[in-house]
Amino acid sequence: MRHLIDFGDLTRAEWDSLYQRCSEIMDHPADFMDACRGRVMASLFYEPSTRTNFSFQTAMLRVGGTVFGFADPKSTSTAKGETLKDTIKMVSGYADVVVMRNPKEGAAKAASLYSDVPVINAGDGGHMHPTQTTADLTTITRLRGKVDGLSVGLCGDLKNGRTVHSLIKALAKFEGIKFFLIAPRELAVPEYMRAFMRENDMWFTEVTGLEAVIPQLDVLYMTRIQRERFVDPLEYERNRGIYILTRRKLDRAKKDLLVMHPLPRVDEIAIDVDDDPRAVYFDQARYGMFARMALLTDLANQERYRPEPVAIGTKPVCSNPNCITQTELYLPPLVKQNGGVDCCAYCDKELR
Ligand code: NCD
Repeated sequence: MRHLIDFGDLTRAEWDSLYQRCSEIMDHPADFMDACRGRVMASLFYEPSTRTNFSFQTAMLRVGGTVFGFADPKSTSTAKGETLKDTIKMVSGYADVVVMRNPKEGAAKAASLYSDVPVINAGDGGHMHPTQTTADLTTITRLRGKVDGLSVGLCGDLKNGRTVHSLIKALAKFEGIKFFLIAPRELAVPEYMRAFMRENDMWFTEVTGLEAVIPQLDVLYMTRIQRERFVDPLEYERNRGIYILTRRKLDRAKKDLLVMHPLPRVDEIAIDVDDDPRAVYFDQARYGMFARMALLTDLANQERYRPEPVAIGTKPVCSNPNCITQTELYLPPLVKQNGGVDCCAYCDKELR
């Protein structure tokens, strides 16, 4: 693995070995205290974050490395008009690994074209969030012993929720997963995710009601309605508070259900659920730190490498207004196939 941009880039064997490392770290953390000694992580957060930023920082410190970076781009040269390319070229000269969160979809992919060191996508707009998925899979594997064969309910804003998109990509690598996609119609998964599930012969059903499907689930993954992604505030108002998981609704759920949430929670899980033994979202946040420790012991210890020069673009070919190619116009127009359809290689949007 060179970069972690999309969970789909990882093979099942690569995930299994990362999880193996993660388990060793959880069981014997002292053995890994120096695993990244002398290594430096750049942490570039162009968008708010609590868990991802802090868990990456603590992960790097716990494996003996150090960290620099920003959590507010206004304090950097981006505010003076510096391109993403120039920022990354320079930062990758100072660091051994770059962790980046950016509001533009495809930003991490764009950064990886120019970086001399591995780039880790810590969230790119409403697109992907693969390291949250490492936390999610670690939680499920650690608490259920396996991932194969589970019925997984994904509930909330499945259109803008990047953690959901990455988790679906990851679960495609396991056998016998059933997806219950629970969302209002206007917040259903994007078409590129539907095409992905069809191409990978995944079992899924799309429903609007939570209560009717709860009894069937092994995992219920709740998500926040992603207010910051709505162009139309009325659309947000229509959908806020639409799903609220309460203790009463859990009465009909399996006794060993895992209630998960990438956090932050707004109102989609009532506070009285926190003390139910099935609520594992705070454990999930802690597992995320161990998963990131495992990831850093691999990616922060690689040799530096000069990427091949890429073509210089002139105009965006992708129509997604939130795609990184809309603002960083020099990016090469890269295309990939998804379910037999040409898609933007940065943000996955179908090209027409
Ligand atoms: C998520 C994110 O940023 O996408 N948070 C996280 O990283 N744990 C979920 C969210 O913001 O709703």
